Amino acid sequence: MRMRLPPRKGLTRLPLLIPSRPVSSSPSMAVQSEEDRHPDDGLCSPSDRCSSSPADQPPPPPPEPLSASPGRLLDGEWRIERAWAHWRKIGEPKTIVAPMVDNSELPFRMLCRKYGAAAAYTPMLHSRIFSENEKYRSVEFTTCKEDRPLFVQFCANDPDVLLDAARLVEPYCDYVDINLGCPQRIARRGNYGAFLMDNLPVIRSLVQNLAVNLHVPVSCKIRIFPRLQDTIAYAKMLEEAGCSLLAVHGRTRDEKDGKKHRADWEVIKAVKRAVRIPVLANGNIRHMDDVQSCLDHTGADGVLSAETLLENPALFAGFRTAEWREGDGEMSQDCGLDQAELLVEYLKLCEIYPVPWRIIRSHVHKLLGDWFRIHPEIREELNAQWKLTFEWLYGMVDRLREKCERIPLYERTSSRIVIESSGN
Ligand SMILES: Cc1cc2nc3c(=O)[nH]c(=O)nc-3n(C[C@H](O)[C@H](O)[C@H](O)COP(=O)(O)O)c2cc1C
Repeated sequence: MRMRLPPRKGLTRLPLLIPSRPVSSSPSMAVQSEEDRHPDDGLCSPSDRCSSSPADQPPPPPPEPLSASPGRLLDGEWRIERAWAHWRKIGEPKTIVAPMVDNSELPFRMLCRKYGAAAAYTPMLHSRIFSENEKYRSVEFTTCKEDRPLFVQFCANDPDVLLDAARLVEPYCDYVDINLGCPQRIARRGNYGAFLMDNLPVIRSLVQNLAVNLHVPVSCKIRIFPRLQDTIAYAKMLEEAGCSLLAVHGRTRDEKDGKKHRADWEVIKAVKRAVRIPVLANGNIRHMDDVQSCLDHTGADGVLSAETLLENPALFAGFRTAEWREGDGEMSQDCGLDQAELLVEYLKLCEIYPVPWRIIRSHVHKLLGDWFRIHPEIREELNAQWKLTFEWLYGMVDRLREKCERIPLYERTSSRIVIESSGN
């Protein structure tokens, strides 16, 4: 008999509302015994701090059908019009939280939305495990009604498996996204992400199968090829296959280290000129001046930010870390907000929308990196903490505040926080 857990207030634990398929016997999906499990693998529980009354929430209604005959999706002109109509319908978001495994989960997305993110991607979800394993779904994908526009990202190499997974999330999102950019070893082994760039017919079939069968549009996130003409041909192929929104990370598959390699905005600009669907630019976004420069330079319809948002989730509201305080000869002012305060806000969101402790631990390190550099002994204490609790983490923030001179975030008084439309 399947167990139906009561969802937390306002939280859609989607996977428990949908039928499950048999669990694969793949070793990577073996369920750990309780003794093997590190406490960080467990979900944080609001009962560690306060009680919350679980309220049953009905699932959101399925999306409105966009076409009576899905085959029409392959009709070129109509598909482009539909891509733009959908983009307008969701408000043409310009400032978007990039997909980040273990880092762009619901509470983090909600924090970034509070501070100016107009849309967000989920972390990459593994399509096969997602479609087969209820536990994976319930831990790795949670959402709520305020968590929109939402792009749910999958990695995949089998069109039917991807479609199975996508069908489970389509009532809860605005795009189903395909990860075509992951350059990590695990993606090479699993033959997905950027390694599918060696097999474009597979990519075409993944996109086509979703475009023809889903009600929500399909988006793709790609890396660039070393040669411009290959990237342009790739982008056009994706558009023709039914992709409605294309995010271009301006680095090649081999340029893994974002700190060493600047993203190439020229290539993004060329892609934007070559295709007719909305295009998002990814790479080199560290503060709001970068957002505007990127939109101006590339003509893209929005930008994604990843690594900088982890240190500064208030980036899209115009706040910047000390590293980027000075720009265009102008100094920014202490704005009264700091990363410790953002961490407390994040922890409160985790009490409402529980996530595994390992994710919280990761955000604590990223948010408080500057503070820990001054007080490494507190980082050591955190690392030594086998089982985290909210109480301990709030106490740690208080101790840091007592010991540390405040490390503020800065705000440019003249910053163009209202992003001008790049047009299309
Ligand atoms: C911690 C972390 C996890 C990431 N996970 C994903 C992912 O799940 N899917 C994806 O397409 N890209 C992922 N990326 C890549 C980012 O989405 C983004 O393309 C890349 O970091 C470049 O953007 P940036 O220069 O703003 O950091 C991840 C990046 C980071 C830092």
